[in-house]
Amino acid sequence: MGSEIGLLKNIPLFATLDSPSLKKIRRVLKKETYKKGQTIIKEGEMGDSLFIIIEGEVEVLKGKAKEKVTSLRPYDFFGEMSILENKPRSASILVKKDSTLLRLYKSDFERLVNKYPNISFEIMKTLSSRIRETDLRLIKNLKKKNKELRKAYSDLKNLQKELLKTERLSTIGKVAGGIIHDLKNPLSVVKCYAEYIKNSKGVTAFLNNAASTILYEIDIILKMTREILEFSKGEYKLEKISVNVDKFVREVLLISNEELEKKNIKLHLHLNTDCKCEIDPQKMRRVFFNIISNASDAMKDGGELKISTSKNKKHVNIEFTDTGIGIDKETLKNIFEPFYSKGKKKGIGLGMSIAKRIVEHHKGTIDVKSKKGNGAVVTIHIPILENR
Ligand SMILES: Nc1ncnc2c1ncn2[C@@H]1O[C@H](COP(=O)(O)OP(=O)(O)OP(=O)(O)O)[C@@H](O)[C@H]1O
Ligand SMILES: [Mg+2]
Repeated sequence: MGSEIGLLKNIPLFATLDSPSLKKIRRVLKKETYKKGQTIIKEGEMGDSLFIIIEGEVEVLKGKAKEKVTSLRPYDFFGEMSILENKPRSASILVKKDSTLLRLYKSDFERLVNKYPNISFEIMKTLSSRIRETDLRLIKNLKKKNKELRKAYSDLKNLQKELLKTERLSTIGKVAGGIIHDLKNPLSVVKCYAEYIKNSKGVTAFLNNAASTILYEIDIILKMTREILEFSKGEYKLEKISVNVDKFVREVLLISNEELEKKNIKLHLHLNTDCKCEIDPQKMRRVFFNIISNASDAMKDGGELKISTSKNKKHVNIEFTDTGIGIDKETLKNIFEPFYSKGKKKGIGLGMSIAKRIVEHHKGTIDVKSKKGNGAVVTIHIPILENR
């Protein structure tokens, strides 16, 4: 009994009482033990007692979802609200670790409170600190929910923007696709006649020149139509084969080199990876041409184009470095946007967006780094099939 009185002294609720009072109180406290997982109090039921924890740990759970509000440990008490207010329990209490509790029935509790005002004071102190904790918890929860809501709202707005863009692009694609398709026939006729004039005997130099110009311009229009048609098709299938990347780069560049030389652009190849990737050669050639054509446009007065390959564990990197005019921040931001073109008379603005789409179909990525006036570096990263 002596040590039990000592124990009661540890409980803040009774800490200010003297030993004779504690002895009297001990008589009305009923010791009970509970096993882990047991429910001591059920939310919504009427309560008849207050509990003080001597050993173990319990959890306070609230609502249908049984959301954990807090944990209570030795010398904490619970169950006071229901008996103070004569209302159903406001939360459930679940035993988290095997626990020993002291139960104080409502009638005894009322008597004690009347007799020892200090107990009321201690209860008030605890209740006040619990209200403060609840407040803080609610504010924290509200802040968290607010943040989640703001994030959900911004995600939704972005999604809406994306959807609008996709819809707009698909409409542009469809309309453009239709027009381009109908344009092809008259263009072929014009091309035929221009070739006929050019190849005819006895045409004046002026007519010959005019025919060459017509053929040149038609080629540009045809290139544009090809781009737009490709773009309007949207999803397309890849016909992948396994290729040696360095070999592939060398072959593609062989075709472009003549054009580059004409423009006074010197080509440097640094092909350092002897590994295989699975690619659709026709589509990937397209990526190369689009990147090289941009580099060439950026080096109107000639320059240097370095193409190097390297690899890491999973990817082969193909890097195109030019010494051209470079790319300003705004263009860099929009470079992959369809129909974004800057500083070109005949640019449609599809080259890079098509390149990105093709590379991503290969499960790769493409990035561009540049500073205005300082050339540009376009890198594509494609998954490696195997090292050899
Ligand atoms: N290497 C580069 N150096 C400087 N500017 C570049 C480079 N590559 C791309 N750009 C800029 O990015 C823009 C978008 O390129 P993209 O290839 O998509 O379109 P485009 O070249 O204008 O038209 P298209 O390729 O459809 O004929 C270009 O208009 C150009 O301003
Ligand atoms: Mg281009």
